[in-house]
Amino acid sequence: MAKNNSPLKTTVGVVDAEVLAYTAGRDVELDRHLIAADCLGTAAHVTMLARMPKECRVLSQADAKKVIAELGAILRRAQAGQFEITLEDQDVHLAVERNLTAKLGDLGKKVHTCRSRNDQVAVDLRLFAKEELLAVLAEIASLAGALAAFARNHAEVPMVGRTHLQPAMPSSVGLWADAHAAALLDDAALVLAAYHLNDQCPLGAAASYGVPLPIDRQLVSDLLGFSRPVANVLQAINSRGKLESVILGALTQVMLTLSRLAQDLVLFTMPEFGYFALPAAFCTGSSIMPQKKNPDVLELVRSRAARVTACQVAVLDIVRSSPSGYNRDLQDAKEPFMEGLSMTRATLRILAPLIAGLEVNREALLKGFTPDVFATDRALELVAGGMPFRDAYHHVKAHLDELQNVDPVAAVAKKTHLGAPAGLNFDGTTARIVAIAELVSDERAEFHAALSKLLGTKWPMTK
Ligand code: ARG
Repeated sequence: MAKNNSPLKTTVGVVDAEVLAYTAGRDVELDRHLIAADCLGTAAHVTMLARMPKECRVLSQADAKKVIAELGAILRRAQAGQFEITLEDQDVHLAVERNLTAKLGDLGKKVHTCRSRNDQVAVDLRLFAKEELLAVLAEIASLAGALAAFARNHAEVPMVGRTHLQPAMPSSVGLWADAHAAALLDDAALVLAAYHLNDQCPLGAAASYGVPLPIDRQLVSDLLGFSRPVANVLQAINSRGKLESVILGALTQVMLTLSRLAQDLVLFTMPEFGYFALPAAFCTGSSIMPQKKNPDVLELVRSRAARVTACQVAVLDIVRSSPSGYNRDLQDAKEPFMEGLSMTRATLRILAPLIAGLEVNREALLKGFTPDVFATDRALELVAGGMPFRDAYHHVKAHLDELQNVDPVAAVAKKTHLGAPAGLNFDGTTARIVAIAELVSDERAEFHAALSKLLGTKWPMTK
């Protein structure tokens, strides 16, 4: 073990041990998530270098092949958990270069020609984000699918509609569940917008200002399956951090939707409501009270929503103080970015089976219907008989104790207009879900086909 403050030898010079630890931060662990992306980005870069005009070509086609074969070996070692990123490496970029140089000698040392870690980390994060965002969209489609199925299965089950949490008007379980599915589908549009913004290749920006050699940025972008290169090299670097904050912003919206769903379920599964029962597997007990079945999962969904928002705020504030060009501050956006993504994905994944296993207590839902829930319906009945609405309103208000109990099923069945409890377009919701699932599989197929072609072997590699 190195003594504190003793200098350590890195690929790019000797650095004081404490300075190295401080500046590397958590990269040594977090960059493990970027190993695959770093190898892919490097494979595209060397492929392009080998196709440069002859007079400035530093690698032959055969060299590029050798590097790519070695990157394949690194990828397999990483998959087996046998690829190490040391503090002396600082990050994944120099760890990969160290490994390539150990195996390939001078050829390994040529790989970084016309590249900087600044554009390298930018492409790594975008490749990582591309895969993650496709997974987020797929997970949104799954949870929205569970909510839509729940809505269809209980479409006509009456449920008191609430405003201010107070009983308001007749509604249905179908309307409640379909609304949560619809919210997720709106959030998916934001995730998709972030996905398209992310889908641009920053490689070739180098330190931030390009290089004085005729590199082919379009080729690199195509090789990596991006839709296009970032048009301006400085913007390719400046967009780091901003892009993460946009992605986290979309995820924050997803988490707000999930937090509301969780909050509804915490309330409606209380014994005092008893509208729904959570599947036993999603409840946890108490260490002192033998009878307890607590909705801990749902409570943590609420707090995780707060934490994803905090991740976005952390990144926004790092960007706020960052001038043009690469600044090391941007490295610290990595942790909240990865954390926000993983918390959102875990939340989407835990809620899908919870919704699928949710039980509906029709009796309890019907018990919620007191005569006052029908007050507005009654006023509108009087309107249909010719009374001006405000007069009908005051009439009903003055005779609240005379309100008759109505059959809630019949009351709900009368709400047939577009989007109302008996006018829901379940097929429309399903079509939106299917469209997301199809987009994910098309985009993923195209992305993985490009990467397979680049590596000359199937991507993603099978374990
Ligand atoms: N680990 C660094 C990051 O995430 C890589 C880039 C380092 N660049 C530099 N100029 N020090 O930002």
